[in-house]
Amino acid sequence: MKVPSSAAKAVILGLLLVNFTSLCFGALEVGFYRGKCGVADVESIVRGVVIARFSSDPTIVAALLRMQFHDCFVNGCDASLLLDGPFSEKTAPPNFSVRGFDIIDQAKTAIENVCPGVVSCADIISLATRDAVFLSGGGRYEVQTGRRDGLVSLAANVDLPGPSISVTDAIAAFAKKGLTATDMVLLLGGHTVGITHCSLISDRLYNYQNTGGPDPDMDLALVSILRSTCPQNAAVDNAVALDQMSPLVVDNSFYKQLLMRRGILPIDQALALDSSTKFTVISLANGVKFPAGFGEAMVKLGAVEVLTGTQGEIRRTCAAINGP
Ligand code: HEM
Repeated sequence: MKVPSSAAKAVILGLLLVNFTSLCFGALEVGFYRGKCGVADVESIVRGVVIARFSSDPTIVAALLRMQFHDCFVNGCDASLLLDGPFSEKTAPPNFSVRGFDIIDQAKTAIENVCPGVVSCADIISLATRDAVFLSGGGRYEVQTGRRDGLVSLAANVDLPGPSISVTDAIAAFAKKGLTATDMVLLLGGHTVGITHCSLISDRLYNYQNTGGPDPDMDLALVSILRSTCPQNAAVDNAVALDQMSPLVVDNSFYKQLLMRRGILPIDQALALDSSTKFTVISLANGVKFPAGFGEAMVKLGAVEVLTGTQGEIRRTCAAINGP
C-alpha cells in the first residue's frame, strides 16, 4: 500500500479537524433543515407565508431587510431583536420603527404546527428576507441555516449606526462585524426599498449644518420635492422613500440616484462622495453586479456572530425565551 506523503497527511488531518469542529460546534449550511422535519419542507413553508403577505403588502421586503440588519448587528443573528421585555432590544429608539415581527410569528406558527421545536426564529428571519428580496426583483440567493436563538436581548446593547455617521466610522462599524467596505456599500443597497421619516432629513432640506440653506450635496430639484413632503415644523412626521426611483424594487437604482445627488439619508449620499466607497457606487450603478452581489453580502451579514450547535436554544415562540 502506498503511504501518504506528509503533505497529504496534513490535508487529511485538516479535513478531519474541520469536520470534527463543525460536529462539535455546528456550522451554518445550505439546507440545514433538509430531512429534519419529516416530509415537511421548512423553506417552502416560509416562502408560502412570505408570498401571501407580499401580495397584499409589498413593503414587507423593506421591513424584513431592516429587521435582519438590526438583528444581526446587535448580538449577532440570533433573533434577539424579536424578544419582548421591558428592556429588550425592541425598546431601543433605533428599533421603534422596525416592522414585520408578525410575519415572522406567522411563519414560525406554520412551521411549529408540522415540526415543533426544530427551526430557529433566527433562521426564519434570513429565509423570509431572502424570499421577499426575490419577490421584489432582487434575484434569489441560497441562504445558510442552522442558527440558534439567543437568550439575551438588552436595549443597552443596541449600538446601531445613525443616519449621519461618516463613511469612515461606518466602515469601522462594519469591519467590527467582519464585513468589508464593499460589503457595506452592497448592504446599504438595502435602501433601494423602504422609507425614512422627515425628521431624520429636515436639516438637509432647510438648515444644513446651520447654514440656513439646504445640503449642497443634494440635487436642488429633489430638495424642492422633499420640502413639499416635509414642510418645516410640520406636526406629522411624513414618510420619504429612500429610493426615489423604484421604492419597491430591489435593484441598482439606489446607486444611480446617489450619482445624481439624490440620496436621502446623509450616509447614503456620502457613499458616492467618499473616496473609499465612491468607485464601488459607480460600478454598482453602471454594472450588473447588483443584485447578485447584494445576495452574497446578505449571506455574509446572516453569518455575523451566529449561535450554532448546542448554543442558545430553538425558541418555541419568537417573542419569548423558552420557559422551564
Ligand atoms: C450604516 C448603516 C445604516 C444606517 C445608518 C441606516 C439607517 C437607516 C435609517 C435612519 C432608516 C430610516 C428609519 C426611519 O426613518 O424610521 C433606515 C431604513 C431602512 N434601512 Fe437602513 N441603515 C443602515 C444599513 C442598512 C442595511 C445594511 C440594511 C439592509 C441590508 C438596511 C435596510 C433598511 C431598510 C430596508 C429601511 C426601510 C425600512 C422600512 O421601510 O420600514 N439599512 N436605515
